[in-house]
Amino acid sequence: MIEVEGLSVEYGAGRYGVLALDDVSLSVKQGEFVAVVGPSGCGKSTLLFVLDGLVPPTSGTVKIEGEPVRDIRRDVALILQDAGLLPWKTVRQNAELALRIQGRKEDVGGVLEQLGLAGFERRFPGELSEGMRRRVGIARALALHPKVLLMDEPMANLDSITRERIQNLILALWNRLGFTAVLVTHDIEEAVFLGQRIFVFTPRPGRVAEVVDNPDMGRVDYRDSEAFRARVHHLREVLVGSAI
Ligand SMILES: Nc1ncnc2c1ncn2[C@@H]1O[C@H](COP(=O)(O)OP(=O)(O)OP(=O)(O)O)[C@@H](O)[C@H]1O
Ligand SMILES: [Mg+2]
Repeated sequence: MIEVEGLSVEYGAGRYGVLALDDVSLSVKQGEFVAVVGPSGCGKSTLLFVLDGLVPPTSGTVKIEGEPVRDIRRDVALILQDAGLLPWKTVRQNAELALRIQGRKEDVGGVLEQLGLAGFERRFPGELSEGMRRRVGIARALALHPKVLLMDEPMANLDSITRERIQNLILALWNRLGFTAVLVTHDIEEAVFLGQRIFVFTPRPGRVAEVVDNPDMGRVDYRDSEAFRARVHHLREVLVGSAI
């Protein structure tokens, strides 16, 4: 369970301060999959950094499993937009990185296999397709066996086929592993495909403008349904029209 109460984040202070988030309150239930959408610069990444303990709240409280977030937690993992791979390390070493930073010795073989990367352990990121590189980034996060998986645009800048396949993969992993998921995305259709609830943020400073319930998420063929199109249409009006 994630509880965010009155969260504001200001980078810098005074005349040079930038208010990124302003009085954000939201909660995410254990095992829930939520999506966060909003205009560029509205503080979406900032929210994930706060949830991951990398950026402290300027005011307000953020709790995971009832405990205030003060630092990086063992059970929370963050996937960055470009997967954050180190080009001079192999697939296996990249996938192990977050575990080793935490001083953990677990083996990543099983996770690499789940992500279709078995046989590529000794390759370097430069020898992989972009879709495979993203999967290494996902493997690195899942290797932590997180209770909470934070994702910052994990499918950005992928071709549409690879994007859809990785969306399906993330859905399957969530169904199988049961982590709580927070997905930040620019892609309205992706938010509707993956978010049981979708938090729509205002332009900076980010506030929650609307919460869209999306109970049909995860249903077979949801992408092709009328309900899917209706929710995409609604979100497009809110985000692209000047409603906020
Ligand atoms: N380290 C920093 N120092 C100063 N300002 C920052 C810093 N990081 C972010 N900001 C500012 O805070 C605001 C929110 O940034 P953030 O990266 O969280 O937005 P975002 O919603 O993730 O944007 P995008 O959709 O473009 O990724 C932006 O206006 C940005 O310029
Ligand atoms: Mg961002």
